[in-house]
Amino acid sequence: MMIALSIIVSYLIGSISFSYLITKKIKKIDIRKTGSGNAGATNTMRVLGTGPAIGVLLLDVLKGIVCVVIARALGLPDWAVALSGFASIIGHDFPVYFGFKGGKGVATTIGVFFMIMPLYALIAGILTILIIAATRFVSLGSLFFLIATPVLGWIFSDYSSGVLVAAFLISLLAFYQHRANIVRLIHGNENKLGHKKAQA
Ligand code: G3P
Repeated sequence: MMIALSIIVSYLIGSISFSYLITKKIKKIDIRKTGSGNAGATNTMRVLGTGPAIGVLLLDVLKGIVCVVIARALGLPDWAVALSGFASIIGHDFPVYFGFKGGKGVATTIGVFFMIMPLYALIAGILTILIIAATRFVSLGSLFFLIATPVLGWIFSDYSSGVLVAAFLISLLAFYQHRANIVRLIHGNENKLGHKKAQA
């Protein structure tokens, strides 16, 4: 009962699309119809600039953190805590309030991974920043973070299989959401930070 409640609440919290709301408020446009078309912090930077993008990033990270905190406060087992985090990311990607069209889940995953695998998220996060700084591909850095965190946790720690399965499912969904980015990275025409566009 508590597990179902936590998953539903997490999905509803994750569904709050801050990039959509803030872009709508400031510029009166739908972020999903401009730039890359993604409802996330990277596209907010393209559309509104660095300040609002950092705000969106922090708020989206916070969604993941809050959902894990709620699940833990309800006394749920670690696998159900991780599953609640996953539910917040599903909400971010497929928001119930905005026609199920949201983002790619990176910022919310950052929040969840930092809560459930803090050391490995930190190590992967530092490497991610270096990758983005060197290549200027946010998507490449995101994909690295999304896979490196659970792989490090799997190899170097003794997380329960429930937590690891949830973490890899989070990773799998994020890779699926980045499929257009992956194709562009392979073809050498992915958007670089500071440059414009290419949809989805
Ligand atoms: O946060 C999503 C990022 O990895 C890529 O975003 O807008 O360049 O597709 P975007």
